[in-house]
Amino acid sequence: MNINDIKNVTVVGGGTMGNGIVQVFASFGYNVTLVDLSQDVLANAVAGISKSLDRFVKKEKITAEQKETTLALISISTDLNSAKDSQLVIEAVSENLAVKLKIFEQLESICPADTIFASNTSSLPITQLASATNRPSQFIGMHFMNPVPMMKLIELIRGMATSDETFKLIKELSEKLNKTPVEVNDFPGFIANRILLPMINEAIFALFEGVGTAEAIDDVMKLGMGHPMGPLQLADFIGLDVCLAILEVMHDGLGDSKYRPCPLLKKMVQAGYLGRKSGRGFYEYN
Ligand code: NAI
Repeated sequence: MNINDIKNVTVVGGGTMGNGIVQVFASFGYNVTLVDLSQDVLANAVAGISKSLDRFVKKEKITAEQKETTLALISISTDLNSAKDSQLVIEAVSENLAVKLKIFEQLESICPADTIFASNTSSLPITQLASATNRPSQFIGMHFMNPVPMMKLIELIRGMATSDETFKLIKELSEKLNKTPVEVNDFPGFIANRILLPMINEAIFALFEGVGTAEAIDDVMKLGMGHPMGPLQLADFIGLDVCLAILEVMHDGLGDSKYRPCPLLKKMVQAGYLGRKSGRGFYEYN
């Protein structure tokens, strides 16, 4: 497949990340289908994308007309079969191995043999996800950063069987989307989360042990280390369930106790305090 053959893209999962990925592809003229479990979630996703585009209009980065053109390229569906005409499918559902494996098994029988599959997983093994399909050479990790329309980086993760051809094509595509791809090998947490999550986890331990308040911990890292967001603020932004899932994958996959999730993080997820998306995490949101 050639880069110009990619015209239709399906994104599975319209949460925080799926929305951003859809927005970016549509902004660059691709026909994008967003698949999620319910019409309500899909309607919310489109409203979120529209709001995000409004911010670009306000900043005069795009015109109101460009916003409408972008929105017109987006279709929504609750049926995974809608992926049948796509040259590229990007999975961005919840960080759950069993759910992702099932989706790729289904996609294998829905999509033509040359369709490329990508996962936006933060930490799960690309090699294992690829093994749910008969096309592991056409399978790659495409790890976008949050918020997708703003962040330049995409970690491109090569599974054990990812072909050079697939890697080159997706690298070229990422550059076409005005992103900067970085090549990463398939290890739990890849590069970004292998380094970021232990820092966030340590910040949660510091709060748990009473070293400082959430505000104090975040202030130290913002004012002292020049981080744009404190680690607890960032955890709320990522989603505490997502943070916990990533730590568990690294803890299991790397077998080192330094990745053990802080009990406070586990308790907050059990309580449904998932961060910004649920209105409460280390901070409260309206
Ligand atoms: P989210 O919880 O905001 O959204 C997940 C979406 O998947 C929900 O809308 C849910 O309805 C949908 N979904 C679940 N099962 C489904 C199925 N069987 N079919 C279709 N849709 C289904 O999660 P978020 O944060 O967008 O994360 C998605 C993926 O992106 C995860 O793998 C996560 O690790 C990864 N990621 C998350 C980042 C973040 O900052 N939140 C950053 C980079 C990657």
